[in-house]
Amino acid sequence: MSNSLFNTTRLQNKTVLVTGASGGIGAATAILFSKAGANLVLFARRESELLKVKELAEEANKEGGSGAGGKVLIVVADMSKRESIDAALESAKEELKDVEVLVSNAGLVKGRESIGDIENEDIDVMFNTNVIGLIHLTQQIVKSFKARKTGHIISLGSVAGLEAYVGGAIYCATKFAVRAFGTTLRKELVGTPIRVSEVQPGMVETEFSLTRFRGDKASADAVYKGVQPLVAQDVAEEILWVALRPKHVQIAELLVFPSCQASPTVVHRE
Ligand SMILES: NC(=O)c1ccc[n+]([C@@H]2O[C@H](COP(=O)([O-])OP(=O)(O)OC[C@H]3O[C@@H](n4cnc5c(N)ncnc54)[C@H](OP(=O)(O)O)[C@@H]3O)[C@@H](O)[C@H]2O)c1
Repeated sequence: MSNSLFNTTRLQNKTVLVTGASGGIGAATAILFSKAGANLVLFARRESELLKVKELAEEANKEGGSGAGGKVLIVVADMSKRESIDAALESAKEELKDVEVLVSNAGLVKGRESIGDIENEDIDVMFNTNVIGLIHLTQQIVKSFKARKTGHIISLGSVAGLEAYVGGAIYCATKFAVRAFGTTLRKELVGTPIRVSEVQPGMVETEFSLTRFRGDKASADAVYKGVQPLVAQDVAEEILWVALRPKHVQIAELLVFPSCQASPTVVHRE
């Protein structure tokens, strides 16, 4: 019988690039991949938070005990700007020359306004970060994957990319775009060893809602009132599981809800 379910050695000494690694799902993913023996390149805007994640990832690597990987390079990068992505790739050129996994996680939501009242600034930042930046980085990394005939792209979609909801027009549109882009890429790369996966979380308690409500903590807390949402670690474990599948197994899409949720709006609250 195959022991693939329990094979955690596949990421050892592999290089994993995680975007939006300074907090939430990205930080939890970085720490878990380091524990599994990977080397990391971490992109985000907040250097102070990246430094904390680097320290935790290095500790986790020791806890993992394999003796593999554990190198962590942090790079300040703004995923909403192509030139910032290019500069980050250039500065991590050496570390990324044998990159094996790209976790495109950086993303955000701003506001709950209805169509007609949405600020251009919010539209731009969501599309530039969640879509344009993700596309730009994927284009660069996929060239390297194609040349080396290896690699795995794991993008963070959302249930919002499967079902739109009132007050979520732009965020949902960005996540629908992530899904369309990834689906095309999977079709284009069929017949190559390169895998394309999308992890689609439901409600996860991170700084996501605080960003949506522009720092209004009471409104952010209300999102999680009376429910047990997912936490960043839950999603990180799913991302790790996707990456640890044997080479012939491609998890195309993985929709993950907390038990109290069945759609963006069907949520049971106590
Ligand atoms: N939380 C949820 O309920 C949920 C549900 C479904 C999908 N998701 C998706 O999961 C991903 C991670 O979200 P999260 O819940 O972990 O949110 P979070 O706690 O707010 O973390 C977002 C991360 O993205 C980074 N980021 C934002 N804008 C960036 C930019 N311009 N350049 C580089 N990095 C940027 C942030 O780092 P800096 O601020 O340091 O740049 C931070 O590390 C997102 O793609 C989100 O859409 C979240």
